[in-house]
Amino acid sequence: MIFKRSEIPGEDIRRAMEMTAKRRQLIDESPADPIVYEYGVNRLAKDLHPGTVRAKITAREACGADCCRITLESLAENGRFPYFRAGQFVTLSCRAGDSYLSRPYSVVSSPEDALEGKLEIMVQRKGIFSKYLIEQAADGSEVMVGEPSGDFHFDDIRDGSHILAIAGGSGVTPFLSMMKAICEGSEDFRLTLIYGARTRAHVPFDPADFADDRIRIEIILSEEEAEGFRHGFITADLLKDCMDDDTSVFMCGPDAMYRFVRKELESLTFDSSHIRQERNSVGDREVAEKKTFRLTVHIRDEVCTVEAGNDETIVTALERAGIAAPVRCRNGVCGFCHSRVISGEYYVAAENDFRRAADRKFGYIHPCSTYPESDMEIDIPAVTV
Ligand code: FES
Repeated sequence: MIFKRSEIPGEDIRRAMEMTAKRRQLIDESPADPIVYEYGVNRLAKDLHPGTVRAKITAREACGADCCRITLESLAENGRFPYFRAGQFVTLSCRAGDSYLSRPYSVVSSPEDALEGKLEIMVQRKGIFSKYLIEQAADGSEVMVGEPSGDFHFDDIRDGSHILAIAGGSGVTPFLSMMKAICEGSEDFRLTLIYGARTRAHVPFDPADFADDRIRIEIILSEEEAEGFRHGFITADLLKDCMDDDTSVFMCGPDAMYRFVRKELESLTFDSSHIRQERNSVGDREVAEKKTFRLTVHIRDEVCTVEAGNDETIVTALERAGIAAPVRCRNGVCGFCHSRVISGEYYVAAENDFRRAADRKFGYIHPCSTYPESDMEIDIPAVTV
């Protein structure tokens, strides 16, 4: 309401009194509903960053000779999983007996599926948690699903308009999600997939599911010759045939594949700044003499002790003892498990040491990539679910 001063004496008082009546009338006409304090933008932020989402296993289907596709249904209030970029991973966790298990898995399904409350991962029959999910967890079992993470996804500012995706084993997972997203229209780039497998039986997907002009798939079998498939290894000639002037290379698979393909790319003088590779989880290390140490672990005001081998990461030892440590990438990169060493010696392999200089100086570690070298006392953050 705009109140402009009047030149007529007494007029302003009369109008002010009218204004009071008008205000009363507006208040009386207003609904008595309480004021809404949750705004759309807050809801969106909560949907995108829910922390963790409760989910249940609804289906398990064998795919290829040694993989299993697991379907999860969201039990969140909004019935969804958070939206993600095709190529990202989620961390699954649950209690199994006395242990607490967790592991990152790349998502196979598409971002659109997440909004429908469905998330699919592909699991290889390897490692405690993966075997638990395939062999022991029943349909209907509950797991916690962490927020989508990682930067192994297409970025039109950083990457070429054509992605040459090179994968081996279950490393094809992020590319299956990308191809599905391209077919559905939530991603728009050209992708050529070169997938290396031992035999046809080891191929865990059907190329016919990704019929789109922007997608080309080349499957190369190392131990079998079959019609419609290439035979041999991923050579410089094949890479050259699959590239154009605006190509970025994405790789996901075993370390041996990375080393082999990088050499072939070097022979093509391909600019290494356009190569991106997904990092594998830090696993057990080979030691000359196996030793067991005592970890004293502080979590807020609680203290417990755990046995840890010098060949296993601190996170592995904690989870084996049933302690939920905060974990996401399990390869030392994200810093989510950032913890303080109070005393003790430890080892971090140089290639997995992504700590800031200040963390190194003041004794902070990433327990997912750190091995004990003596009895240790550490302070880890509590997991908030
Ligand atoms: S979980 Fe990412 S650094 Fe440890």
